[in-house]
Amino acid sequence: MTKIIHVKTREEMSAIAAKMIKEQINAKPDSVLGLATGSTPELTYAELCSMCERGEVDFSKVKTVNLDEYVGLDETNDQSYRYYMNSHLFDKVNIKPENTHLPCGTADNADAACDEYSELLEKIGTRDIQLLGIGKNGHIGFCEPDTELEARTSVVALTDSTLKANSRFFESVDAMPKKAMTMGMAQIFDAKQIILIAYGKEKVDIVTRALTGKITTNIPASLLQLHMNVTAIIADE
Ligand code: F6R
Repeated sequence: MTKIIHVKTREEMSAIAAKMIKEQINAKPDSVLGLATGSTPELTYAELCSMCERGEVDFSKVKTVNLDEYVGLDETNDQSYRYYMNSHLFDKVNIKPENTHLPCGTADNADAACDEYSELLEKIGTRDIQLLGIGKNGHIGFCEPDTELEARTSVVALTDSTLKANSRFFESVDAMPKKAMTMGMAQIFDAKQIILIAYGKEKVDIVTRALTGKITTNIPASLLQLHMNVTAIIADE
């Protein structure tokens, strides 16, 4: 079942998401969190950093697994998702670096690295919370619209829609990796609770179709309607 919370601003959306994550950690200090990157969760992470600084939440026993990583970018590249996570959250809270995990974008054998990530996810176990953003084409993680979706972590070719949307973070589309590693749908679903966040006019249409329309692999986020515990926090602006 999807619970939809409508708010006006990105700030309100982020405050609610951060509060839910804080309450989860306070109830279970060794929580496992599934995390997303992109512009949508930036303020949620900033809020969690402030909460940690004020002593309201303790990350010392928390473990995290991220959804995805670009193929070919390492942690020193400021567009890699490892760099993003370090700079937006991990370096600013008291989490142990060894408890934070992302697929390895620079592995010699990308497919083998994906299998290793799947094994890691199994070892770490069911996530207590999975935080998700949504692409304009309905992707979650980098599970792109298709007639079939991968269940486990795999290398995916990014669609034109995603390349266009994410090229805003790079000098040009040409400078962008064309492939990424992403958790598969079954792995994204292996979370007790999913929090989907989205803000702004450009996401209204896809969010509506995903949360209330037909369930289709052409909109991977629409499959979330099948999960038992999803909270979608949607901000107008
Ligand atoms: C990134 C991820 C993606 C983003 C989506 C929205 O880790 O999982 O699914 O959530 O592309 O990106 P933004 O937030 O930049 O609009």
